[in-house]
Amino acid sequence: MELKILTLGDVVGKPGRRILRQKLRDTLDRLGATFCVVNGENAAGGSGITRDTGKEILDAGADVITTGDHVWKQKEAANLLTEDHRILRPANMNPRCAGVGHGVFETQNGVRVGVVNLLGRVFMNPAEDPFRAAEQVVEELSKETNILLIDIHCEATSEKIAMGWLLDGKVSAVFGTHTHVQTADERVLPGGTAYITDLGMTGPHDSILGRRTDRVLDAVTTGMPKSFDVAKGDVRMCGAIITIDSATGCATAIERVVVREDKEE
Ligand SMILES: [Fe+2]
Ligand SMILES: [Fe+2]
Repeated sequence: MELKILTLGDVVGKPGRRILRQKLRDTLDRLGATFCVVNGENAAGGSGITRDTGKEILDAGADVITTGDHVWKQKEAANLLTEDHRILRPANMNPRCAGVGHGVFETQNGVRVGVVNLLGRVFMNPAEDPFRAAEQVVEELSKETNILLIDIHCEATSEKIAMGWLLDGKVSAVFGTHTHVQTADERVLPGGTAYITDLGMTGPHDSILGRRTDRVLDAVTTGMPKSFDVAKGDVRMCGAIITIDSATGCATAIERVVVREDKEE
């Protein structure tokens, strides 16, 4: 059976959540997707995730929310991730921290899908080895399902590509998040793993990575800290649609997805 899974990049603030409400269900129907993974690390005011913003993303049609380096920015996140295991934090964070880094979920048709969230180490705060963590978790989850999805949340392109090749043939897809800029390198690797370096941003593109251009320019030209408010214009939902043969767990296709708002509110 052919399985289609939609993956979406970092949801930034209110505009990102709004386009999910407006467009996600329709997009899942149009693409024939029965499972959806959304990176929500910037859902609350551009940084972190709260109970309400997490619920909004799940209610909009996401099955699983992955996160990244900003996961703990909102103080209720620790309790939220402890209670709701549909919201993941990177698996290679300190094992004593709250929440879980992977899980096995079900599509609308009852197909089991494993999802793993990982964090890179280049130009990011210290984390445990993501490659070692990936191998361990993939081995564990492979006992439960052959459909495995990896969100590798990284700054460095090389680290993401290395993860793609390390896991080629072992998982269905490796997709990157964090940079907020969609890359044009989507491909199915020789072993049958769909790969893209970054899914891009679900949020306002008339911005600098989702933040108001004037505020960021002010900061970079003066060297003084400014509050980086979430921008408003040109809201897009960015990600990729991945086609998987559910008998083998191998991907057969990956295509970039960009959906724009009908009009700004
Ligand atoms: Fe991030
Ligand atoms: Fe982000």
